[in-house]
Amino acid sequence: MKDVIRPVDPATLKSLTPSIRTFELKEECGINNLPNQIMAKAISDGFVFNILCVGETACGKSSLLDSLFNTRLDSTPSTHDIPRVFLRKNTYDLFEREIRLKLTVVETAGFGDQINKDDSFKVIGDFIDSQFQSHLDEELKIKRNLANYHDTRIHVCLYFISPTGHSLKALDLVTMKHLDSKVNIIPIIAKSDTISKPELQRFKQNILNELNTAGVKIYRFPTDDETLAEENLKANNLLPLAVVGSNETVKVGNQYVRARQYPWGVVQG
Ligand code: GTP
Ligand code: MG
Repeated sequence: MKDVIRPVDPATLKSLTPSIRTFELKEECGINNLPNQIMAKAISDGFVFNILCVGETACGKSSLLDSLFNTRLDSTPSTHDIPRVFLRKNTYDLFEREIRLKLTVVETAGFGDQINKDDSFKVIGDFIDSQFQSHLDEELKIKRNLANYHDTRIHVCLYFISPTGHSLKALDLVTMKHLDSKVNIIPIIAKSDTISKPELQRFKQNILNELNTAGVKIYRFPTDDETLAEENLKANNLLPLAVVGSNETVKVGNQYVRARQYPWGVVQG
């Protein structure tokens, strides 16, 4: 015999659910409100950004990060006698107005200081792989908790090139080649205030030629979205980026700016 589904008598329903909860709409509900809802959620969740800084000791990694985020992040200067390259990892909660950024900074320590540099790049590659592995492990759990999981996979690697004015060192090429399939690499010429403008142009060209010859893939800002294409094309033409970092504030005109003061003038970071 087939089961017969009969409508429930309203009186019985009321006795079963004596207090029916009703919700009042606080704001307009519809497709046109979706962007606002997405924005509200993004603001309440905050953003996560993980940066890896690779570069020789004292090339200006910490100073540049301080300048980029306009703050003073914890940094311990490395000495030149560290026997093996290792990575320093710190996580910060930064706020700009009400927007929260969970920033993780990973810096190399002792990079380029050893006589035998054979495995300097390996430590960095292994670190990036281990972040992928921990994310995969979390995803594969039966009871995964990705909402609360702190994703430490690296979004970008800032690769600091020493401002020699000539070309890349063998260690730079080997390291970038090892990392380019694992992470987005943005090559950066550190302490660019130490090179003159014509020298800088030649230096940039030499670096690009060497990267091309070695088949190293660097990050290119996307140009397929037409709203950003023009800006991103300009940014791509500036690669490798020439940067200046500073933790000093200098008075220029009637305002204080983050800059480096020299006898001949001020370089703004
Ligand atoms: P470690 O973490 O010890 O490897 O050093 P780092 O790469 O973080 O360098 P840090 O930012 O500590 O800077 C080292 C020195 O370089 C400091 O004396 C800075 O003032 C100086 N410095 C940093 N950025 C620049 C720059 O753009 N130009 C010049 N001329 N000096 C800089
Ligand atoms: Mg540092």
